[in-house]
Amino acid sequence: MKETDKEPFFIKEIREQPKVLANTLTKYLGPNLYLKMTRPPLDEATLRGVNQVYITACGTSYHAGMTARYIFEELSQLPTVVEPASEAGRHHLLVDDKTLAVAVSQSGRSSDTLSALNLAKARGAVTLALVNDSPSPLTEAASGYLMTLAGQVFTLSSTKAFTSQTLVLGLLAFRLAQSRGLMKEPWRQELENLGRVPEMVRYVLALEDRVALMAKALANYEQVFILARGALLPMAYEGALKLKEVAHFHAEGYSTGEFGHGPLGLVGPRSPIILIAFADEAGSSTLALARSLKARGAPLWLISEDGPKKDLALSSLADDFFPLPAVQPRLRPMVAIIPLQLLAYHLGRLRRVDVDNPGGLLGGEDWVQPDKSH
Ligand code: M6R
Repeated sequence: MKETDKEPFFIKEIREQPKVLANTLTKYLGPNLYLKMTRPPLDEATLRGVNQVYITACGTSYHAGMTARYIFEELSQLPTVVEPASEAGRHHLLVDDKTLAVAVSQSGRSSDTLSALNLAKARGAVTLALVNDSPSPLTEAASGYLMTLAGQVFTLSSTKAFTSQTLVLGLLAFRLAQSRGLMKEPWRQELENLGRVPEMVRYVLALEDRVALMAKALANYEQVFILARGALLPMAYEGALKLKEVAHFHAEGYSTGEFGHGPLGLVGPRSPIILIAFADEAGSSTLALARSLKARGAPLWLISEDGPKKDLALSSLADDFFPLPAVQPRLRPMVAIIPLQLLAYHLGRLRRVDVDNPGGLLGGEDWVQPDKSH
């Protein structure tokens, strides 16, 4: 699709993602392939001493944290808890001076995230803020901070900051693995391959016309379920959040595995399903669910890898197939979210929502309006 000056900031920011991700990699990947820290005291000794990770955030930033949990646990072998910042003060928060508490926020100003970070800090945790805006209350409060390099953000609906958060948190997991002496040779290769992520995101962005057609089809319905599992499940939640926020369309992200435990009863010809699944992780239970969805008459749209590793069984059941390029499993979330961001944009436009000011944020009326003259 051609860019024009009059286009909303929301779509411009979606399209900026390859550049933002490339800048992030340039800044953070050191010559020895590890994450360069922005500010002490998150030095080697501190990182080596950590025995658990606590990630807290709101909304889209929370979804970035949820995805990071999988990579933290596997690479750094650290128990990792992720919770919405608004819940942090509502239970006994088990963190101590061996906990790395990471607060993720695009703005650095969400009050719940700031409170959660301060709570963890009061209990002795080593605190790290991951923000797009500095100085900000979160960078002031945390012991150390890392920046996402999303540049200036003009819309309240986070897209480029989200993929950048996901990337930086992934790099942090690699860095912790390295500090803890757990780095494995194949992971170094993965770090080198990270350089391909911007190109993969660009590939998906080039398929915007296909997403626009999906949006047209979806506009004929009242709701959609987005299903995924593992590190892709937070992408289903995030896609659903974007559809609600930007397109004012009822969407629910759900675990593929959990869907057959009740929600399936809602499914019929009027309930389209977007399934994110890959041949190497889908398994027989996903296939069984897909068959059941089809038997109930649900329109089934599959987002999955194309090419030699295409899931032939699932794609033969699907009414529509959105092709993703082949990327290593750990990199998939950053690529799989792109069609859902584009879907929110196109559906929002079809539904005549002001996608730059969709109005779904408490306090959003205080947002400083961007200067649209440039
Ligand atoms: O600035 P923050 O990342 O702390 O904001 C948190 C949420 O309010 C934010 O991610 C919200 O969910 C987005 N507008 C969703 O697009």
